[in-house]
Amino acid sequence: MAILDVLVYPDPALRVVAEEVTVFDDKLKKLVSDMSETMYLSKGVGLAAPQVGVSMRLVVIDWEGARYALVNPRITEEEGMERAEEGCLSFPGIYEEIERPGKIRVAYQDEDGIPHDEAIEGFLARVFCHEIDHLDAKLMIDRLSRLKRTFIKKKMERKAKAPVTSEAQER
Ligand code: NI
Repeated sequence: MAILDVLVYPDPALRVVAEEVTVFDDKLKKLVSDMSETMYLSKGVGLAAPQVGVSMRLVVIDWEGARYALVNPRITEEEGMERAEEGCLSFPGIYEEIERPGKIRVAYQDEDGIPHDEAIEGFLARVFCHEIDHLDAKLMIDRLSRLKRTFIKKKMERKAKAPVTSEAQER
C-alpha cells in the first residue's frame, strides 16, 4: 500500500470533472486500497479520486465502520434538507455548516463492477453527497454564502502562496 498526496485547494485538479470508470482491474483495487490507507492516515471519513489527482469516478468512505468503495456513484433520489458541520481533506482546518439532503438513494458499482442500489440517511448521506460532489468538481465552499466562500478562498490562496509551511509559522 502507498500513502498518496492529498491535493489542497486551490489545486486545479480539484476543478476537473472526473471520468467514468470502465475497467475493473487490479490497478483499480490498488487505488482503492491506497486511497483508503491515505484516508485513514489523514483521519478523514471520505476521499474522492480527484483529491489525489486521479480523474476517476471513485470514492472511498469509512464512517463508524460503514466502509464503501463507490465506483461511478449516482444519487437517484434525495429527500429533506439538514444543516450540519462538515470538513474536507482538501480544506484543512476549515469546518462549515452546510445544507445537504437528509436521505438519499444512491446507485453505484463496487470495485468488482457489481451494481448496488442503497438508501442512506443521516451523516452518512452527507458524506456520500460531499464525496460525489468532488467527482463533479464541486467543492464544499460552492455551497456556502458568497461572503463565506470569498473569505475561505482568500485564506486558502494566501496559505498556498506562503513561503514557509504553517508548521514553521507556528514555531
Ligand atoms: Ni472533500
